[in-house]
Amino acid sequence: MPNIKVTDLEGQEKSVDTAANSNLMEALVDADYDDIEAICGGCCACATCHVYVGKEWFDRVGPRGDDELMLLESVDGFREDASRLSCQIQLSDEIDGLELEIAPPE
Ligand code: FES
Repeated sequence: MPNIKVTDLEGQEKSVDTAANSNLMEALVDADYDDIEAICGGCCACATCHVYVGKEWFDRVGPRGDDELMLLESVDGFREDASRLSCQIQLSDEIDGLELEIAPPE
């Protein structure tokens, strides 16, 4: 399973091992990123697991779903070229080295 590079809201970068997780939100919660509240538990219904995926990774993490895009467009920090709900990104070896930033909470 992949290692990912996470930048938090203070600009601190850390490598996170995702071996025990099936999606990115779970990995961030397990790594104690408190800004990932994940209120809906990964049901694509809250947008409190918002992250910015690094430019070179955006097309490699799979497409945004319609529901995901609708939710993301409702948050202030939405970025067309980077915003994803971390609960909607499945972990696989193909995204080893993924870089992302935690998005500011609403
Ligand atoms: S955890 Fe609620 S949308 Fe991702």
